[in-house]
Amino acid sequence: MKTAMMALLFVASLAQAHVPSLESFNTKPILADLKDLRALNIPVMAKDEFAEVGYAVVTPKMQQRIQEYAHANGKCGGFEDLSQEAQNLTGGFDALLGNLASLKQKNELYDRAPFRALATQKNEALASAITEINVDNMKATVQWLSSYPDRNNRSAQPNVHVEDMKKKLEAMLASSTLPYEVSLVSHTSTKQKSVRVRLTGSEKPNEIVVLGGHLDSINMGWGSGNKAPGADDNASGSANLLEALRIVSQKVQPKRTVDFFWYAGEESGLLGSAEIAKQYKAQNADVVAVLQLDMTLFPGSGELVIGSMTDFTSAWLRDYLKAANETYIGARIVEDKCGYGCSDHASWHRQGYPAIMPFEARMNDSNPNIHSARDLVSKDSNFNHSVAYTKIALVFAMDLANSTARQPY
Ligand code: BES
Ligand code: ZN
Repeated sequence: MKTAMMALLFVASLAQAHVPSLESFNTKPILADLKDLRALNIPVMAKDEFAEVGYAVVTPKMQQRIQEYAHANGKCGGFEDLSQEAQNLTGGFDALLGNLASLKQKNELYDRAPFRALATQKNEALASAITEINVDNMKATVQWLSSYPDRNNRSAQPNVHVEDMKKKLEAMLASSTLPYEVSLVSHTSTKQKSVRVRLTGSEKPNEIVVLGGHLDSINMGWGSGNKAPGADDNASGSANLLEALRIVSQKVQPKRTVDFFWYAGEESGLLGSAEIAKQYKAQNADVVAVLQLDMTLFPGSGELVIGSMTDFTSAWLRDYLKAANETYIGARIVEDKCGYGCSDHASWHRQGYPAIMPFEARMNDSNPNIHSARDLVSKDSNFNHSVAYTKIALVFAMDLANSTARQPY
């Protein structure tokens, strides 16, 4: 026994001799773009060649290198922290990656299928609802949300704006004759709450169309004060959802249930949406489609481009977006990818639900001021551009929520 202990101590001290600093004690499990990891010579422990996502355990220095590399290449954080995920993961990371791979394969099957999603047929009620979009409302919402010092889930009072949002929704919906329900969703991973508005479906209330975006904001300490106005990221998507709800709440009841979400703690690792999507899955909820709106206000190249993220999303819904765009929007859709689960759509995708994320621009042209005190309404904000995303929300709430279409696998 004693010799065994000695041997163990010896091995432990050997191991320590190879680890000169405390670096390795602060490692984090992450998912990142496989190409980025390879370019930076970071050991990849598991990978999904289809989704081009790699799993690595990285030291703080490596994290910084990835962040700098991603930043220089027009990406945001550059990786997804799985520490939270790791605590709850039962099947291990192989299961996580295996799940991603099988979802990717399903997408590819769909791509090769003999029939594709039907083009949406122009619906006059929807076309007319689109003309009711009010740019001034959207601007007022973004200005209001960006006037809080921050909307960070880790701040001392993380729910001030959340409570105000709930009040705003209740006041707005008071004149609606539809069956609706406004609720705050509590979480275990953060003190911040998410907000949900449910419009119950008339014919198929168990089929759910989810429309969401994160309401929180963050300042990552990149200069100029510590406020986190988050005008583009993501007061903009929050405002698209609010304006779409204002219009839809005055129309006929959708056949399917429509859930609007303003998620908590996205910036700290998709916290709110991860819990919500897991809960829906645990209850076997029939979520037909998920729309994620995150950053819609900065028209990168200047032309009306909608970036459509191809990772952690559904090929069927990306096709549906293209069809809806031809009928109702007339933008140029450019496919792009984050390289990791960069927003709440990934939480739903992980639970096997079809999601899309139409984004303000190509990844490379996206807003350089996010996560800083400079993410404000400015001359670079373009609310007419942002209108396109309110249109997409209306298409989901009034076309998809009234149809029988679903992902064909
Ligand atoms: N809106 C961003 C994601 C984003 C930024 C997409 C730039 C495309 C271009 C989102 O709020 C965010 O910052 N997400 C985190 C990931 C999350 C898992 C903490 C990120 O990208 O670092
Ligand atoms: Zn965001």
